[in-house]
Amino acid sequence: MHTAIIMDGNGRWASRRLLNREAGHRAGAQAVDRIVRAAAAAGISTLTLYAFSSDNWHRPAREVQALLGLLRRHLLLQSDRCLAESIRVSVIGRRERLDAALIGAIDDCERTTSAGERMHLRIAIDYSSRRSLIEAGALTGPRAEPGEFLAALARIDHSPPSPEVDLLIRTGGEKRLSDFLLWECAYAELVFVDCLWPDFDNTEFTRALEEFGRRERRFGRVSPDVSGGLAGRGRLGADRPVAVGR
Ligand code: FPP
Repeated sequence: MHTAIIMDGNGRWASRRLLNREAGHRAGAQAVDRIVRAAAAAGISTLTLYAFSSDNWHRPAREVQALLGLLRRHLLLQSDRCLAESIRVSVIGRRERLDAALIGAIDDCERTTSAGERMHLRIAIDYSSRRSLIEAGALTGPRAEPGEFLAALARIDHSPPSPEVDLLIRTGGEKRLSDFLLWECAYAELVFVDCLWPDFDNTEFTRALEEFGRRERRFGRVSPDVSGGLAGRGRLGADRPVAVGR
């Protein structure tokens, strides 16, 4: 079960409280701690969080610095906790535009937690799905087998190969993918919630998982009621059909 989350709404959460946007991101980081624990407890095997897109560089410099500083502190603080809870952390996205202190925190956290088996937590920083796809395509060439292409994509993203996304949640009320995991979400169930990210709690998360459980996943096939076959409900732990179209 791979869940991915677009954590939107920190800015609006802050402005409703007459706070600056940075305060919204700090509250968002607390929600991250909460949901990482809830996801591990729910048996999710991979959780990918969209923390900083490549387009976020176009935000005001002060907000960019605050966000990247927050990410560095988060990685430093969470490293031991993730180790204790057997959570493996990887950061996906470009590294070369990040400052040395953040790259150091990423390397430390990835190294410290590399043996974690309970859940794989992937944090997307300076991430653009379109760029990763273009680079993986350039690396493998037009005749690549899907497996080869996926291995290249993982290498570009600095992540061990990960399963495709089963459930994509976006908070904050907008309904778009914003250049996040475009390949990996090919058959993901999309759940959009109005709740702003800092308010996203265990109840909201459980509700999203329940909504996923009600979806019928057909992977381009017909309903199992008709075929007696392979498609299935999106419940946690459901047997998944092998990926088709490959
Ligand atoms: C989008 O909300 C959110 C972001 C661009 C940053 C997400 C970052 C965090 C949740 C905090 C740090 C993350 C980790 C992993 C510790 P927005 O600012 O666009 O909100 P708005 O749409 O209300 O303006």
